[in-house]
Amino acid sequence: MNPLELKEKILELKTSRKAIIVAHNYQLPEIQDIADFIGDSLELSRKAAQVEAEVIVFCGVHFMAETAAILAPEKIVLLPDLQAGCPMANMITPEELKEWKKQLPGRPVVCYINTTAAVKAEADICCTSSNAVEVVNSLEAEEILFVPDKNLGSYVQRYTSKKIISWDGFCYVHHHFSVGEVNEARRRWPEAQIWVHPESPPEVVEAADLVLSTGKMVKEARLTDKKEIVIGTEEGILYRLKKENPEKNFYPLKSGSLCFNMKKITLIKVYQALQSMEPKIVVPTIIRERALRSIEKMISI
Ligand code: 13P
Ligand code: SF4
Repeated sequence: MNPLELKEKILELKTSRKAIIVAHNYQLPEIQDIADFIGDSLELSRKAAQVEAEVIVFCGVHFMAETAAILAPEKIVLLPDLQAGCPMANMITPEELKEWKKQLPGRPVVCYINTTAAVKAEADICCTSSNAVEVVNSLEAEEILFVPDKNLGSYVQRYTSKKIISWDGFCYVHHHFSVGEVNEARRRWPEAQIWVHPESPPEVVEAADLVLSTGKMVKEARLTDKKEIVIGTEEGILYRLKKENPEKNFYPLKSGSLCFNMKKITLIKVYQALQSMEPKIVVPTIIRERALRSIEKMISI
């Protein structure tokens, strides 16, 4: 089947299955092109809670599909490749979190959405990169346990008087950005603004002009009068930024900044998932109910 036929078959199956295809901003261009909705982690979880479709084909990584399954248990959630996990989400287990809470009792746990459902079930409230500061500042406690991203934890610390105690996790894509690369980008594109994701190390955040979640990058790209922007996040987002803003120039902070797990979702796997209605993501009720509390608390903010 050539790509055009594959796309047609996917669209046919999508209609007959009453399905919706949602995709994260880092997905491959051909996946973004067939998606009904593209967004960041917060936008995708809100969408999953609202859609009327019977099936959600989630083009992203495992924790995102799990979040959709937690928010919409009556729907079938398909993740076209079960191996598409987030290495950062796997840097903390529920057992490790339980042990950490015992060592540092009396402090609420804020968990980044990039965690497994079982870890969310052990947390008090969830957050994403676009609302982490608001979530932390909504809490009364003066000391907060933050899991798993130490870089997002450091970013939040800049905007709160509370003490953030972070787990030692990180995203391998963003953690490897450096101040040297920011300086090099300024030399190469002197007119450009430099935007980075808050999963980047603190010194890179300090050196950048703006720090934004992927959803906020998409919005700011439409609003800004800057014509040149250097993007410090996973390169997949450049496709959307360029497509939606053809009059502006976007450059990657570092070429080849790819999340290989995001790229595991391909057109053929989307087709196969819709055809076989597998692999389904199901979260056991006992975990789902507790994880839902953490996510709903976040959504209510
Ligand atoms: P956002 O799209 O929520 O900014 O998250 C980035 C990310 O790394 C998702 O895995
Ligand atoms: Fe996880 Fe980083 Fe990939 Fe996002 S980009 S899924 S945080 S490894």
